[in-house]
Amino acid sequence: MAKVLLINGSPHADGCTAAALSEMIRVFSEEGIETELITVGNKAIRGCISCGACAGLGKCVFGDDPVNEAAEKFREADGLVVGSPVYYASPNGTLISFLDRLFYSTPFSKHMKVGAAVVSCRRGGNTASFDVLNKYFTISGMPVASSTYWNQVHGFTAEDVKKDLEGLQTMRNLARNMAFLMKAIADAKEKYGLPKQETDVFTSFPDGK
Ligand SMILES: Cc1cc2nc3c(=O)[nH]c(=O)nc-3n(C[C@H](O)[C@H](O)[C@H](O)COP(=O)(O)O)c2cc1C
Repeated sequence: MAKVLLINGSPHADGCTAAALSEMIRVFSEEGIETELITVGNKAIRGCISCGACAGLGKCVFGDDPVNEAAEKFREADGLVVGSPVYYASPNGTLISFLDRLFYSTPFSKHMKVGAAVVSCRRGGNTASFDVLNKYFTISGMPVASSTYWNQVHGFTAEDVKKDLEGLQTMRNLARNMAFLMKAIADAKEKYGLPKQETDVFTSFPDGK
């Protein structure tokens, strides 16, 4: 059975972002897909200190921490949904700290795990935030699931989001598309194997070193 890990970056476990993610979870369950939801926005999560210790440790240097706990679940997952409230036209700071460290410190391949970003705003800054979240997927060889609109809902409270019928429809279509992609990728892996990834070149300077 395919598994999806959903990360809620909001401090509100039952807020607007949660309402959007719940709509997706309902569809995943109809599609026979296992889900796990983690709320990280209500935790004290510091930013990456660029110490590089993760290269040797295979995990973030900040040991007993939500990032390392989520890493194991991410390793097992076929898909990752990242949901964020919009703060000053960006994903919220706690989530950014979490994702920087999660993606940087985990040594396992994310190749062909399907990613989907979801944003919730009262009024504006949604597409800028959406773009930021999608960049974690697209640097990691993760195909991105899309929907019938950019993956966003509008509201200040979860009750508002329940009235955003197009937003909820976007979430349902997103979950269906993501389920299809995960199933198709699982079949294609059996049939063709994963595409080769070249990683030898790491160019920073004109001499190539
Ligand atoms: C610090 C802060 C900054 C915010 N900035 C924006 C913003 O730039 N644009 C916007 O439309 N809403 C903004 N909001 C409102 C939230 O993004 C919005 O209500 C969101 O749907 C809340 O989601 P949640 O209930 O999952 O936390 C901001 C809220 C906070 C607390």
